[in-house]
Amino acid sequence: MIPFLNLGRQPIANGFRRSDDISKEYFFDLITGFDEKTKLVSIINPPDKSVLFNESYIYRSSGSSTMRAHFKKTAEDLKKKCEAHPGSKVLEIGSNDGVMVSHLDPRQTICIEPCANMASITRNMGYETHCVFWNKDIAQAILDVHGPIQYIYAANCMCHILEIQEAFEAIELLLDKDGIFIFEDPSMEMMFQNTSYDQIYDEHAHIFSIEAIHTLLNNVGLYIQEVKPLEVHGGSNRFIVSKQKSRYPILYHKFDIDQLKQWSLGVQRSKYQLLATLYEVKKAAGRIAAIGATSKSTVIYNYCGIDSNLIEFISDTTLEKQGLVSPGKHIPVVSPDRLKEVDTAFLGAWNFSEEIKSKHPNIKLITHVPRIRII
Ligand code: TMP
Repeated sequence: MIPFLNLGRQPIANGFRRSDDISKEYFFDLITGFDEKTKLVSIINPPDKSVLFNESYIYRSSGSSTMRAHFKKTAEDLKKKCEAHPGSKVLEIGSNDGVMVSHLDPRQTICIEPCANMASITRNMGYETHCVFWNKDIAQAILDVHGPIQYIYAANCMCHILEIQEAFEAIELLLDKDGIFIFEDPSMEMMFQNTSYDQIYDEHAHIFSIEAIHTLLNNVGLYIQEVKPLEVHGGSNRFIVSKQKSRYPILYHKFDIDQLKQWSLGVQRSKYQLLATLYEVKKAAGRIAAIGATSKSTVIYNYCGIDSNLIEFISDTTLEKQGLVSPGKHIPVVSPDRLKEVDTAFLGAWNFSEEIKSKHPNIKLITHVPRIRII
């Protein structure tokens, strides 16, 4: 793998913690590379998966109305497909707190979720839930009990899986011959276009381009039927995949290492422009907060060297995050009530900018996507 972007020493991006528990924080060097053979962009030497996905996992997919609506719509579409093919089953990989499966019948739904605290939520809701990492063993175990599965869905999950080729082999093993595998993850094309380098954090072991997915799937006898661009998570691609050869040619942008190295210079520019803007606003307004204690913003604060001297606090709607401090830079996370104290905030959750703008119409928002600006 050829390295092209070094985002420096980074903590676990979602590792929000108590302020009296910051001495044993885990750090690693966040370096991203390009595999010239598969065209896959990945983190070189990411932390072990058990450090990231365990019983203390804090991120909830149901944390925003945007995502709740997105998953409801997805479930309704899957439900229609199942109604058209009675007896068919849906398997979700990375079911988190059940925001998607909650709209489906537990008798036809199976969940895979490696984080025990999340797995117990769907189990308590009555869904068959396997608390394991997705691989060929669990695919075989499900196949033995249920037979081939007609619909396999994964949202913001496949890009977490380091052994991605094996993960696709496991899909091929379990998917019915006429089945559909639908998965969606942040888009490399959008990250490239928007300089949204904060999409690269420990959990995102890979950032998928259409080109890389096309190559990886074809290696295991799976084929892209359609790619649907989605607005969620700052620009994602939803891949509709089956065992049948694609009926139409799949069009994609071809990445090469020179382009990526050039892009990384733009990332450095973005860092210095963001710092200049924050210092300017701080001088004029006195106080700056942030909205959204996101994993993405952890990358920005640690890469740019931003701490509570510059951003006083981060507001977040997730109750579990309130009262904690941000990973690495230890900026306090507080309830959104505190936002009345400031008139400018950095948009940590830029992927929810519309929802946040409508909730806080009087706050000026600083964002780095697609370029540094105040909105
Ligand atoms: P995500 O970008 O990883 O999905 O995380 C979004 C975070 O932003 C999550 O912790 C909830 C938080 N958030 C707010 O604090 N206010 C909001 O209005 C929205 C939409 C999200």
